[in-house]
Amino acid sequence: MTPGKFITFEGGEGAGKSTQVRLLAEALMARGLAVVRTREPGGAPQAELLRELLISGDADRWSPEAEALLNYAARDDHLRTTIRPALETGSWVLCDRFADSTRAYQGLAGDVPMAMIDAVHAQVVGPTDPDLTLILNIAPETGLARAHARGDANRFEMKGLAFHQRLQESFLELAERFGERCVVIDASGSIEEISSAIWNAVETRLLKA
Ligand code: TMP
Repeated sequence: MTPGKFITFEGGEGAGKSTQVRLLAEALMARGLAVVRTREPGGAPQAELLRELLISGDADRWSPEAEALLNYAARDDHLRTTIRPALETGSWVLCDRFADSTRAYQGLAGDVPMAMIDAVHAQVVGPTDPDLTLILNIAPETGLARAHARGDANRFEMKGLAFHQRLQESFLELAERFGERCVVIDASGSIEEISSAIWNAVETRLLKA
């Protein structure tokens, strides 16, 4: 059995990740591939309980360190329960956020030392790094306006514009650090423009490779 491919979607708030996860899943299924759509934090029953603790409550409810560790606790459960079993049976796994969100939100924008994140990452994720990471890049003003229009402001959307600007820079920095698996997608265009840029990246990197 050929293992499936692991694709993660990353970026700031309101970049349109969930819509794009759905569209890519449909396109891959139309080619006859088995697809599992999932998200972080969450994606498995215990991890979803941790998600609730992470995204609700006051903006300063957790220290960035606690947040990083809680996200990795959820990630450990998600990998064991959902991601690895799906990949092993040949499904492609499309995940709305993964470890680059911890590196960006808690690490680069939240000042948790990257050495701490890298050490926990090596233990929890091990060899299960994504085959492809799509970084949806959007100006924070546009992304936050979209997120507010959706009416579901979470703890992170309540943080100020400066935090979100730092976040955008952080994702671009990560795209350089992990250039072999990351592709930056301009998320300022229409849904169709974004999904066709994503399809190009998937075809070039994973289907034709
Ligand atoms: P979302 O599912 O709407 O993207 O919300 C999840 C929130 O959690 C989002 O604001 C980003 C944040 N987050 C982190 O801060 N660190 C992480 O490791 C992950 C996976 C998400």
